[in-house]
Amino acid sequence: MDYLQTKRVKSLSGTINISGAKNASLPLIAMTILAKNSVNIKNLPHVADIKTLLKLLSNLGATYDFKDDKAIVDTQKISQTKATYDIVKTMRASILVLGPILARFGHCEVSMPGGCAIGQRPVDLHLKALEQMGAHIDIKAGYIEATAPNGLKGCDIIFDKITVTGTANIIMAASLAKGRTVITNAAREPEVVQLCEVLNDSGVQIDGIGTAILTIHGTAGELVNIKEFSVIPDRIEAGTYLCAGAITKSTITIQNVNASHLGSVLAKLEEMGSSFTITENSITIHPSEVIKPVKIVTQEYPAFPTDMQAQFLALATQADGVSIIEEKLFENRFMHVSELQRMGADISLNSHTATVNGKSKLSGTDVMATDLRASSALVLAGLVADGETNIHRIYHLDRGYDALEKKLEGVGADIVRLKE
Ligand code: EPZ
Repeated sequence: MDYLQTKRVKSLSGTINISGAKNASLPLIAMTILAKNSVNIKNLPHVADIKTLLKLLSNLGATYDFKDDKAIVDTQKISQTKATYDIVKTMRASILVLGPILARFGHCEVSMPGGCAIGQRPVDLHLKALEQMGAHIDIKAGYIEATAPNGLKGCDIIFDKITVTGTANIIMAASLAKGRTVITNAAREPEVVQLCEVLNDSGVQIDGIGTAILTIHGTAGELVNIKEFSVIPDRIEAGTYLCAGAITKSTITIQNVNASHLGSVLAKLEEMGSSFTITENSITIHPSEVIKPVKIVTQEYPAFPTDMQAQFLALATQADGVSIIEEKLFENRFMHVSELQRMGADISLNSHTATVNGKSKLSGTDVMATDLRASSALVLAGLVADGETNIHRIYHLDRGYDALEKKLEGVGADIVRLKE
């Protein structure tokens, strides 16, 4: 297994190119199941989760060609409708094939995505909405068995909680349904917006894009001629590198980024003392000498994203004062805290709230990544810790960051990937 070794840097400088968004790419790849054509995708990130989902589609009979950041995906020859445990267990977002496969074939079996490190991650809202659209759903031997022999029927769906992949699943199912589906309390993440935009540009009429109330006019089973598209930049990857600039007090530029997707993240970095130069597709961070403490509550977009919580917690260890970080979306998303404490951070945890007493002097040691965003938080801490920090189990990191150590090395970080 690989691990990353990083040492304190004096400062970083230069430009980092941001890759396509993992969390936009996954629903967009699942969306190709709705296509009558082979679909051209640009700006796909080279991360494990994308390769896993492409493999899942090929297991079902699809073909794909993924080179550089481009892919051509052809699902016309899909003959299987069962997503098996061996794949789903490695990536819970496999649940995203349920809606499109059920809508296109009238039946689908997907292994129940187990929980994951950060929480239970149930899919009850996905299933309840599909049942409202006429699907019959059984859970047997760990599999979701969904059938809709007469196709899915559009209806009014109100999500009890805002769910990102739940919204994406129902948008895709509703695209081939008979009639109109109104989703109320829909997720408004940029990744959901792009899924709607690509479908709408390809002939599936969707009203209310970007709002919490989406109206999808289904094609009644007619497959869609999906137009070529380029995946939006990864706002979480971008936010992670902005935190690298802030924590090392370096002026760096991130390129190929959409600043309008980072409003709440930029606002919190400003509260902590940074300022920015923003152009159409770049952000330059100008960090302050003193990092100020911050109060953060994670919520759905456009509020502060849970996927940036771990990175800001690492940054808060270097703030002069007490920061309060509350995690409201997932029940177990503070596993990075114990690893940061081992590096010398002064953090106390009380159920969903972390109190960070900065500024802590961090010392490098061996630490263990526990989930995707926790991994990047440990790298950030390693950039300012004395001595060497070895981050183990970085298969978590490789799920969602495209060549992170190379991008940081490119701006002067002392970081290498080694073999255990
Ligand atoms: C998406 O996960 C992202 N993953 C996550 O990013 C992100 O943390 C999360 O949204 C929240 O923003 C992808 O897009 C692939 P949810 P998702 O359904 O869709 C509860 C990363 O680091 N819920 O929005 O699985 C759930 O338990 C990953 O890139 C139900 O109760 O999250 C949670 O408390 C981690 N029942 C809340 O809703 C359901 O049926 C939000 O979950 C579905 C969700």
